[in-house]
Amino acid sequence: MSVEAPVKVDASQPNEQGYRSFKLGEFTFSRDEYFVYVEWPTGRHVISADAFLRALQRDVAWQFFYGIVNFDGVVGTVNHYGTVDLFAGRYNDAYRKAELDHLENFSTPLIKATFEEMLDDWTNEGFDPFASPTETGSPFGIKNGENRAAITRHRVTAQRMVSVPGDEPLRNDENGHPINRQFADVPQDEPEIRAEPGFEKQVASFNLFAYLSRSPVTWNPSVVSVCGDSLYCPTTEEYILPIIHGNDRVEWFVQLSDEIYWDVEDRDSGAARAKVVMRPGDVAAMPADIRHQGYAPKRSMLLVWENADPELPALISSGQLPSVPVQL
Ligand code: PHB
Ligand code: FE
Repeated sequence: MSVEAPVKVDASQPNEQGYRSFKLGEFTFSRDEYFVYVEWPTGRHVISADAFLRALQRDVAWQFFYGIVNFDGVVGTVNHYGTVDLFAGRYNDAYRKAELDHLENFSTPLIKATFEEMLDDWTNEGFDPFASPTETGSPFGIKNGENRAAITRHRVTAQRMVSVPGDEPLRNDENGHPINRQFADVPQDEPEIRAEPGFEKQVASFNLFAYLSRSPVTWNPSVVSVCGDSLYCPTTEEYILPIIHGNDRVEWFVQLSDEIYWDVEDRDSGAARAKVVMRPGDVAAMPADIRHQGYAPKRSMLLVWENADPELPALISSGQLPSVPVQL
């Protein structure tokens, strides 16, 4: 059994609106009815509480994800897989040129515990940061209860594949996964499996479209199959990806249904690089030196294909591997 060193979260007493403030190094986070305020020695930044909580929820649930999680064009985190940088203005050309950017590195357990408590304290009853805006209540106003069930929900991470005995189960009405209103037309039949005797537990197959039609969350890739470092992470999308993701490796996108618009920017400066419209069947390779944010006007299905090889970030940043998977 491993024993984690206890971490002490630095939180204030509740303010007039009922919310606690949190300190991490020289950063302070506080909120009121509408906004979150982030302060550091050379600056102060305001983010709408809904956008902040949606981004914070993903940073926490994904354990800081791959590479950079920008909450917006100013504030975010960089995952060093063991430690995490918290930054303001570091990936923003104007802040860098004005020398107003700030970055501090924290142990993953400390920043994780602080972010978890902040998310818990600032998420009111009825607001689900993973839900689409039309499927949840308001994040605004004075402190009002909590929504612990939503913010600590199980994240699907298959060991081998969804539906394999002992692995992540299929979704159905009985286990609390009704078909989403926008996927009412998705066929729900499952493939018929005829395994040779003795191989019944090793041969598995499932209807991915039916599985995704029952996802209760948005912009939350689930690991549904694993083959070495190759992870299939499909997700259902609606409204705006709450983070601007800065890659530290190539990611492939396969648009499975409907449409997503992507804004693609230079990862370090934020300069615009591309606008991408993805329609069903479209495949894109997002380079390792960009950041991107997606817009889905209607609930859609996206397959995100990740390469989880831990060597990749160093190989790419040292120039030993290119930042694109194919030269056209
Ligand atoms: C991404 O940053 O690549 C990403 C994150 C969450 C999603 C889709 C894509 O739901
Ligand atoms: Fe990404």
